[in-house]
Amino acid sequence: MNIFTFSQTLGGVCLFFVYGSSAVDPDRASVSVTEGDTVTLHTGVQMNQQDRMIWIFGGRRLAIINGDKHELCEDIQCKERFRDRLKLDSQTGSLTITNTRTTDSGEYRLKNTTDNTDNIFSVNVHGVSAAERDEMKRKSVKEGEYVTLDTRVIEKPTDVMRWYFNDSLIAEMTVDQSKICSDDECKERFRDRLKLNNQTGSLTIRDIRITDSGEYTLQIISSRFSIMRSFTITVSVKDVSDSGSSSVVVVAVVVVVVLLLLLVPVVVFYKRQSIMQCIRRQRERQERREQRDDAQAPEQIETLNQRSSNGTSHETEAAGETEAADQLQL
Ligand SMILES: *[C@@H]1O[C@H](CO)[C@@H](O)[C@H](O)[C@H]1NC(C)=O
Ligand SMILES: *[C@@H]1O[C@H](CO)[C@@H](O)[C@H](O)[C@H]1NC(C)=O
Ligand SMILES: *[C@@H]1O[C@H](CO)[C@@H](O)[C@H](O)[C@H]1NC(C)=O
Repeated sequence: MNIFTFSQTLGGVCLFFVYGSSAVDPDRASVSVTEGDTVTLHTGVQMNQQDRMIWIFGGRRLAIINGDKHELCEDIQCKERFRDRLKLDSQTGSLTITNTRTTDSGEYRLKNTTDNTDNIFSVNVHGVSAAERDEMKRKSVKEGEYVTLDTRVIEKPTDVMRWYFNDSLIAEMTVDQSKICSDDECKERFRDRLKLNNQTGSLTIRDIRITDSGEYTLQIISSRFSIMRSFTITVSVKDVSDSGSSSVVVVAVVVVVVLLLLLVPVVVFYKRQSIMQCIRRQRERQERREQRDDAQAPEQIETLNQRSSNGTSHETEAAGETEAADQLQL
């Protein structure tokens, strides 16, 4: 049994895919990819002049290989469905489907007409919205930041993963080792800024530079399939928009502080006014009372006067305290 399991998550959905051969059906293999990925179905042979093979999908012929001659998509329906998305490797007869769509999901059958045997490749294309796909594939970062290109693989796979930058190999991970930058040009360019997650194979680029902008391609290769997915990284200059937004913040803070400072005397002024009014009313009341009490006994007037003047002084004191407290609060 040569069973290979590897899982992918996407927006919380877990996809498991198992491929390789099994005892029950020796020539069946399955793969799960995300819409937009490129997938290659490997024949696993080097062709010779005598080899005759047919690729079949949905009961229709996609390709006929007859020695060194081959024909792709002979009927209209195939042409409409796949347009220019099919390719045949002339050395091996392997079939590549680029820019996959959900409608490409299904069984691809490789019929060996020399010995009349079949190989079945089950392909599942997981659909994503245009927005999701854009978010996965296009990364915009500022100079000096870092970015991680996610393989969306959870378990360490048993096959090979490779990362390319503008078509040159920059990192490779196999079952037992990972290599970053095996050539001098890559070392010169990235120094120690590349890191591979040794479980998932995801690639992180630290301290990113303008010159790191370009196309990054992930390749996952097993004996029966290869998957290719590309990412576009755009690195922009750090300062421009940053200083713009921070100066806006500074201006806003200054405006708020100035408004508060203007508000303090205004509030104090109104508080004082209302306290004065209160005192004035108190005095008027007292005067009225004195006029009323003119006719009464002198001792009574004496006590009354004393009480009310005490009251007034108390109230003035209290008002003074309130005013002080208000000023403190401000
Ligand atoms: C088809 O069968 C022939 C004869 O057994 C073999 O030599 C050839 O490699 C097979 N081709 C594939 C693609 O399996
Ligand atoms: C994976 O990386 C971690 C930390 O970087 C390390 O501790 C661990 O030994 C590595 N595992 C393998 C299998 O290389
Ligand atoms: C990589 O490709 C991009 C887009 O084609 C290009 O702008 C950039 O200059 C290339 N970088 C290198 C180092 O080749």
